[in-house]
Amino acid sequence: MVTPETSLDGKVALITGGARGQGRSHALALAERGADVAICDIAADIASVPYPMATTDDLVTTARAVEEAGGRCHTAIVDVRNAGAVDSFVADVESSLGSVDIAIANAGISAITPISTITPEEWSTVIDINLTGTLNVIRAVAPGMTERRSGRIITVSSMMGRSANPAICAYSASKWGVIGLTKSIALELAAFGVTVNAVAPGNIRTPMIENDWFIHMMRPDLDAPVFDDLAMPLASLHPMGVPWLEPEEITGAVLYLCSEAARHVTGTVIDVNAGASGAFTA
Ligand SMILES: NC(=O)c1ccc[n+]([C@@H]2O[C@H](COP(=O)([O-])OP(=O)(O)OC[C@H]3O[C@@H](n4cnc5c(N)ncnc54)[C@H](O)[C@@H]3O)[C@@H](O)[C@H]2O)c1
Repeated sequence: MVTPETSLDGKVALITGGARGQGRSHALALAERGADVAICDIAADIASVPYPMATTDDLVTTARAVEEAGGRCHTAIVDVRNAGAVDSFVADVESSLGSVDIAIANAGISAITPISTITPEEWSTVIDINLTGTLNVIRAVAPGMTERRSGRIITVSSMMGRSANPAICAYSASKWGVIGLTKSIALELAAFGVTVNAVAPGNIRTPMIENDWFIHMMRPDLDAPVFDDLAMPLASLHPMGVPWLEPEEITGAVLYLCSEAARHVTGTVIDVNAGASGAFTA
């Protein structure tokens, strides 16, 4: 799936949630292949989210790495829940870097929300960021792409958007929703030469899972658990037995979807989950 031959010279790529984690990995790989990259991030903590979001320093670090890889980088602090702010971000990117060729709606949050305790605020925060935030990005880039009859849109679902686990109803619903959104818009834009696809990662080693809240929640049996103590419970979700994958493995799928080879691939979901797909029925 990794396509080192992909040249993205002259392309402009936009990535939400690009300050760290998978977004940073995508930004670097796209820049290494010749793209200019625009990244935005909320870069601030969110009240009902129990682990830290990226910081402005993270955003600067990614921007420097993009520039060192040879790309121009436009950065902004944007909350993807705010459709107007996303529209302005896209307009600013088009002024500074040019028309957006590739948009990766990557910003997202994790949440453990048992039905016995979930609050309306927790539910709407997850849906607003993971699902509506994805729509806001597509809504902002689709008119330009359809007019130019060219574009690649990539959304980010999850292994939990194709299956489920207990106590993640909001996260799972948001990520199943991302797939419905992706497929519907793919059909709508197909005749305009714009592809719309999702990647669906398994457990990926990023700050979304490598944080104190997640580690303690996964290992309540230990007094002072560390990340490596998650190896056993996380490996149980991956039939290949590896507990987590690296962000670059998702970047491989993203690069394929940006490549010439994928020009007629649309409306699909690429699972990168060490075998969990084998148990999916849809
Ligand atoms: N890490 C995993 O195990 C995993 C598994 C499946 C899917 N995913 C998905 O992959 C995507 C990337 O996550 P990651 O693993 O890199 O985690 P991450 O927490 O490192 O990155 C997510 C980024 O999104 C940003 N963000 C959050 N809310 C935002 C908002 N409202 N507006 C703008 N930016 C916002 C965060 O600050 C952060 O930089 C997410 O959509 C996530 O749901 C992750």
